[in-house]
Amino acid sequence: MQEKREQWSSKIGFILAAAGSAIGLGNIWKFPYITGQNGGASFIIVYLICIAIIGLPVLIAEILLGRTTHRNPVGAFKALSKSKFWIGVGGMGVVSGFLILSFYSVIAGWAVGYIIEAANGNFSQFSTGELAANHFNSLITNVTWIVGYFTAFMLMTMFFVYLGIQKGIELGSVIMMPILFILLFILMVRGITLEGSEAGISFLLNPDWSKINAQSILIALGHAFFTLSLGMGAMLTYGSYMSKDDNIPLASFQIIILDTVVALIAGVAIFTSVFAVGLDPSAGPGLVFHTIPATFVKMPGGYFFSILFFILLTIAALTSAISLLEVVVAYFVDELGWNRKKAVIILGFVVFLLGLPSALSFNLLADYKIWGKNFFDLVDFLASNILLPTGGLLISIFVGYVWGFDKVLLNLKSGAENLFEKHPKIILTWKFFLKYLSPVLIFVVLLQSLGILELIF
Ligand code: TRP
Repeated sequence: MQEKREQWSSKIGFILAAAGSAIGLGNIWKFPYITGQNGGASFIIVYLICIAIIGLPVLIAEILLGRTTHRNPVGAFKALSKSKFWIGVGGMGVVSGFLILSFYSVIAGWAVGYIIEAANGNFSQFSTGELAANHFNSLITNVTWIVGYFTAFMLMTMFFVYLGIQKGIELGSVIMMPILFILLFILMVRGITLEGSEAGISFLLNPDWSKINAQSILIALGHAFFTLSLGMGAMLTYGSYMSKDDNIPLASFQIIILDTVVALIAGVAIFTSVFAVGLDPSAGPGLVFHTIPATFVKMPGGYFFSILFFILLTIAALTSAISLLEVVVAYFVDELGWNRKKAVIILGFVVFLLGLPSALSFNLLADYKIWGKNFFDLVDFLASNILLPTGGLLISIFVGYVWGFDKVLLNLKSGAENLFEKHPKIILTWKFFLKYLSPVLIFVVLLQSLGILELIF
């Protein structure tokens, strides 16, 4: 089957689209709340280390797999290896895509719902953080509210993938990402200048190492994968639309910087506000929804800014959700010969069904726990902390050992000739990280979290 593949129209188009995939709820919703639950500064340090020594090498490897093969995750492994095992690794990526999208869209639905809340002026009554938190808690126990906006968000995601996303994603990202950036920056400044914000700053700057254990390191590692859209073939799929003269190491570095800066700015904006309005940093998934409305009330133009904030949060989530659905759709289109429109409708519906128990975890199914976690937390944990790191581990083993490293270097060099000539050490460092450091570290963290190490030692 000869497929016609589009390409990004420009280098910056790819970078912003990939950054659009990377930057999403992970940065603005998840990063602050897991930082709050895992001790602040010390967690951020572990997270930054994971990004630098594991995230970057694996990101380069994943994009390279896509650009070399011009395929979806399953097709990419098929093109480079005959082994069922490796093709199965691609398949695991597609499954992870289903799982992540199902709970991701539930949270994105909250952002959509909050656009309406903000527009209705409901935030003006939030004189204290507690009132804002109570309002949020009563909304998510409302089944119609949560399922309704979840459905609305799923339909929006399907709409873009249905139309074919090249122009949608690329253009949307180029326009929206800078606006998001500016708005977050304004929020950060507002946060810092709030009375009582010092406690938030010190929470972010003073490490409390007693909070760091195997579990929190696993969460930091899992989040490094989650926030960079790594470990399931989303970046691979985006890389498959890249041209041979794009510089992969440089692009990867730029994507990582953008993603990290946005997460840190969001962190400062949220935690200064959390402490200033007297909320609990370990409140969990509701944290941003408790905090931001209560802060906006204290701002001139707060009504307008709060609407804008939730619109942008929705858009950031949308550019990420599109990349998740795109992986799944690309697989069914390329490998099983479905037509794109049929794939979007059927697969979107499957994701919707899968997401229902996650949506209901906040109300009807709240007391229904498996291994001490409700359905939402369980799917998030399985996908983000087990499947993504495992996918990343296998991708680094494949590129490091199975593919043939001379071929890897040859393909990587295309578009990065300058880097290879002027800074060969960077390439050598990448090789070392990819072959030895990241697989070993990921493996140890995974084992640790499964409690296996404790049995051995
Ligand atoms: N990175 C996105 C975020 O931070 C979420 C996301 C999009 C994702 N595509 C992914 C996560 C693929 C894991 C894998 O919000």
